Amino acid sequence: MSKYSIIKVIVCLTLLTSCMSKEEPTSITLNSPDTNIELNFFISDKGKPSYLVSYKNEKVIDSSKLGFEFQKVLALDSNLKIIKVERKTIDETWKMIWGEDAQVRNHYNELKVFLEETSELKRSFNIIFKVYNDGIGFRYEFPKQEHLNHVIITDENTEFNLTADHKVWWIPGDWDIYEYLYNTTKFSEIDALKHYEPKTHLGQTYVPENAVNTPVTMKTDSGVYLSFHEADLTNYAGMTLAVDTLNLKMKSELVGNSENIKVKRQTPFETPWRTIQIVDRAGDLIESKLIVNLNESSVIDNMSYFKPTKYVGVWWDMHIGTGNWDYSGKNHAANTKYTKEMIDFASEHNIGGILVEGWNIGWEKWWDKKNKKEHFDFVTPYPDYDLEEVVRYGKSKGVELIMHHETSADIIRYEKQIDTAFALMKSLDIHSVKTGYVGSVTPEGEYHHGQYMVNHYQKVLEKGLETNVAINAHEPIKATGKRRTYPVAISREGVRGQEYNAWSKDGGNPPEHLTIVPFTRMLGGPIDYTPGIFNTSLKPYKSENQINTTLSHQLALYVVLYSPVQMVPDLIKHYQEHPAMQFIKDVGVDWKKTKVLEAEIGDYLTVIRQEKGTDNWFLGAITDENQRIIKVSLDFLDVDTIYSAKIYKDVPNSHYLKNPEAFEIEEQEVNSKTILELKLAAGGGCAISFIPKE
Ligand code: NOJ
Ligand code: CA
Repeated sequence: MSKYSIIKVIVCLTLLTSCMSKEEPTSITLNSPDTNIELNFFISDKGKPSYLVSYKNEKVIDSSKLGFEFQKVLALDSNLKIIKVERKTIDETWKMIWGEDAQVRNHYNELKVFLEETSELKRSFNIIFKVYNDGIGFRYEFPKQEHLNHVIITDENTEFNLTADHKVWWIPGDWDIYEYLYNTTKFSEIDALKHYEPKTHLGQTYVPENAVNTPVTMKTDSGVYLSFHEADLTNYAGMTLAVDTLNLKMKSELVGNSENIKVKRQTPFETPWRTIQIVDRAGDLIESKLIVNLNESSVIDNMSYFKPTKYVGVWWDMHIGTGNWDYSGKNHAANTKYTKEMIDFASEHNIGGILVEGWNIGWEKWWDKKNKKEHFDFVTPYPDYDLEEVVRYGKSKGVELIMHHETSADIIRYEKQIDTAFALMKSLDIHSVKTGYVGSVTPEGEYHHGQYMVNHYQKVLEKGLETNVAINAHEPIKATGKRRTYPVAISREGVRGQEYNAWSKDGGNPPEHLTIVPFTRMLGGPIDYTPGIFNTSLKPYKSENQINTTLSHQLALYVVLYSPVQMVPDLIKHYQEHPAMQFIKDVGVDWKKTKVLEAEIGDYLTVIRQEKGTDNWFLGAITDENQRIIKVSLDFLDVDTIYSAKIYKDVPNSHYLKNPEAFEIEEQEVNSKTILELKLAAGGGCAISFIPKE
């Protein structure tokens, strides 16, 4: 008898005894629709609620406790009994307004457990478990009740206890920023405090203990992939996971503030979902819709004012030093003339958006750490930037302005101006904004990932909904699938983006970076990485830095990384007349279908996507610092169609360090029976467009 079956027997026995003695169950099982995942909820000694999870008969989450601690009142984590359970099964399909797939299946079994204290206060809470074929989600629900009204949560103690020392891809549990390179270690080797280097360009970064930020992804020795995260983070603090490397345990550690308040709520309320993706293939993590499925359906039926788009920007100039945000300095980049040149370029290359940073008053104090606050003005342009004219000119060329609001994390000021700032966008018919929150949060004592900021980011989404403006937030709260409910949440940063290649002192993002990000950060939702730098050497602007990939790898990122807004960030002159520009011109941004063909986290990844509204397919494949050959069967193509495939690929001597910009384009007729052999250079990639022949 396996170890697992023993546990099962014990659990069943407990159930039996408790049924007999108290006429109530103390252990309950819930399976995924395909029965591969089994969740057991039970009340352990002293009335402590606990759960464990197995996948294909292998235990993946060991017995883990659940509970809460509050300010001034007794903890709610023991002396509990089950007073009722409810079950249901849902199988429905919903439409993504924009996304990786046109349709999403939402199929799960649900169990709601009603718990009540056996002691006099009889405080109660419920736990809702949903088990899908690709993982589980559970959330706590606190009903309105006499002895639990206004609550201050000082700790949520949700445990995720592991069964072995897995391989983990992780970043430190920083309360302010997610912009780290991923570490790949055994769970027992996680040392967030050692890897924590305060970033000089940011005013605030805080890692209080050995914890990781989510999504955090693991691989077991038997090849099962697990990823831990949360869904629907609303009016609550973001969750980091504290790690106990000795006992292989994790526990929720909510982001607090300087007063040690984690969450302030009044009953009734519910927490975000705690999620565990459980799959066999690395690619299934990406294809999984667990996180969006756990969010409520959309509050709007359509969003005709926003179309997924590629966009150029007055942006890379600032990062490589050829332009300035600040009008008082040299080379103020956000001027009408330069913006119009960019609009012309965009319009000639099938690019629908333009972002202009540094257009508004306030950047003079941007670098002044002491006087950073109370300076940005979100409605007044600098004298050399004619906002109305730029909008008008763009519209005449089919290119929409993307507004920019850098707030310096001065929330007090931004919220004071938010109505006027969004009203201005509405009056000019501008339908998207990139927001930014660099630096320390005002009011002081708050962190970027705490409840105060979660509520701020939510306020901005709601303002966007009200004024038809979609939000692309930088230095954001992590993505937790809220894009389903609020499709105005189009993209966000929350990742160590391309910009680090321009100015970080540590050599930039290594080639493996983007073979990890899709399996970690991106499981939460789209990223605004800004792929597509052609001048990978950054010469002559930042000769000490460079992009650590080949050019074909940069092209492949338009398919590998999902976002409904994809930047085309390099200087225009690096794209003009460049043959690889054809791929950027052709590649879609909104998809009918997405599939991950082959992948190993940290090594390589091949993604195919079918464009919505056309019959075109696109493929993106990337590798880490190792060259490799991959075979791709084109059986995903329509069987009755012949396609013209344009293959943008590395050449035999391409190399991310030695020869990054060498590439070639091969054109070939293909059909669903074709098998392609793609040779990826070290740090290389391959991008292919498949366009049906007439
Ligand atoms: C940091 C953002 O990530 C970057 O894209 C932007 O240019 C600067 N902040 C200024 O807002
Ligand atoms: Ca950033």
